[in-house]
Amino acid sequence: MHRKLVVANWKMHGSLAANQQLLEGYIQRLKPLENVDVVVCVPYPYLGQAQSLLQGTSIAWGAQNLSKDLAGAYTGEVSVAMLQDFGATHVIVGHSERATAYCESDENIATKFMQAKSHALTPILCVGETLIEREAGVMEMVVAKQIDTIISMYGASMFAGAVVAYEPIWAIGTGLAATPEQAQAMHEFIRGRIAAHDKDAANSLKILYGGSVNSQNAVQLFVMQDINGGLIGRGSLNAEEFEGICRAAN
Ligand code: 13P
Repeated sequence: MHRKLVVANWKMHGSLAANQQLLEGYIQRLKPLENVDVVVCVPYPYLGQAQSLLQGTSIAWGAQNLSKDLAGAYTGEVSVAMLQDFGATHVIVGHSERATAYCESDENIATKFMQAKSHALTPILCVGETLIEREAGVMEMVVAKQIDTIISMYGASMFAGAVVAYEPIWAIGTGLAATPEQAQAMHEFIRGRIAAHDKDAANSLKILYGGSVNSQNAVQLFVMQDINGGLIGRGSLNAEEFEGICRAAN
């Protein structure tokens, strides 16, 4: 069985003062939880702060995006090497809030995934369907296309040791989480899709659920066989609430 992984995605929230308080809360509250891995993905400017506060604790840190290019004249972009300079171990790739607002294609997302993976950073690939797509019954097709783009561009072995987060867009920030059965069905589908090409990669992959996870619904989700943890937005902005979610995973 996989050790559970809980990832905080702070999105564009925080300040030096607020982060310090929140991270100190994380450190104190999560210390006794030895059976869960925790990562916090902070906005770029706060990577140095996360590094100095979290170094030597069991909490790892990462970013919410990275450039598909390694270096060069790409104003406003941040490279994988820059993330590593600040000790980041994880990076979110293809979050739907970026994919829609900043027009990220599946191909660009696949390249970012490959860049992270080939530089020993763990990519957290976000996939998921809109409400219209679910109601039309094409959610598996939508998610399959996101996964297949990576498989066809770089091979299924890219998924070995990586993380996929199933985040149905209709569940993000709405308070309306997927049911454990809905999430489990999609997680099983994702693992199977990758297993058809590379069984070992599929087995070593962690699949997180994201979308309105809170301390009340976390246990029901995390007990499902293919749910290996969660990607947490709003619930990560309060140390007590985040502790409840991590405790469920622990
Ligand atoms: P919420 O937990 O706020 O629904 O956000 C989920 C998410 O988008 C995490 O990446």
